[in-house]
Amino acid sequence: MDDPYELLLKRRSIRSFKDEEIPEGTMQKVLTAGRYAPSALGLQNRFFSVVQSRSLMKKIIAVAEKNGAAYISGHVPFYNAPDVIVVSAPEDFRYNREDAACVIENLMLAACALGLGSCYLCSVLPGLRDPEIMKELKLPHGYVPCGCACVGYPAVPVPAPKSRRKDDTVFLR
Ligand SMILES: Cc1cc2nc3c(=O)[nH]c(=O)nc-3n(C[C@H](O)[C@H](O)[C@H](O)COP(=O)(O)O)c2cc1C
Repeated sequence: MDDPYELLLKRRSIRSFKDEEIPEGTMQKVLTAGRYAPSALGLQNRFFSVVQSRSLMKKIIAVAEKNGAAYISGHVPFYNAPDVIVVSAPEDFRYNREDAACVIENLMLAACALGLGSCYLCSVLPGLRDPEIMKELKLPHGYVPCGCACVGYPAVPVPAPKSRRKDDTVFLR
């Protein structure tokens, strides 16, 4: 078991995955970690659509592109990951994106702890938020996708932690 603090420093975005399914029990653990994320007012206003269908993944990308999604060079989703976890929340809830971001970070840290890799993906939101795709994600009424993460076994060695800026903090004593 990783030291939890070390885990925070170790997680990296992974953009190349093995052709290997994630066992159901492992995916359930990842999802449970997502459910334990903090949520505004404690409402647990979020919904998980676990996309394992390659054809649906392709469709999401095609619709995202049709709707104007732009990727930075080399960052075309979903990097051959076997699973994409789409996190949705009520469209009219003021803190929907904040809630989803907390959930996604928990999912990614749990994935890392379980030997999986992950990558947060927002570039596909124009596809995820298309009515045709939202229907396929089987969302509760009034929910909209707020982000997603692809998850799988890394096909590349996990890079060492990137150095971080140190000019981003002020102490007000
Ligand atoms: C809100 C958000 C959206 C992101 N969207 C994408 C994306 O669409 N595609 C992608 O490849 N990475 C995406 N990332 C991953 C970042 O590029 C990555 O976290 C950053 O480069 C730092 O690298 P690290 O995660 O390995 O520390 C996103 C990250 C965040 C927090």
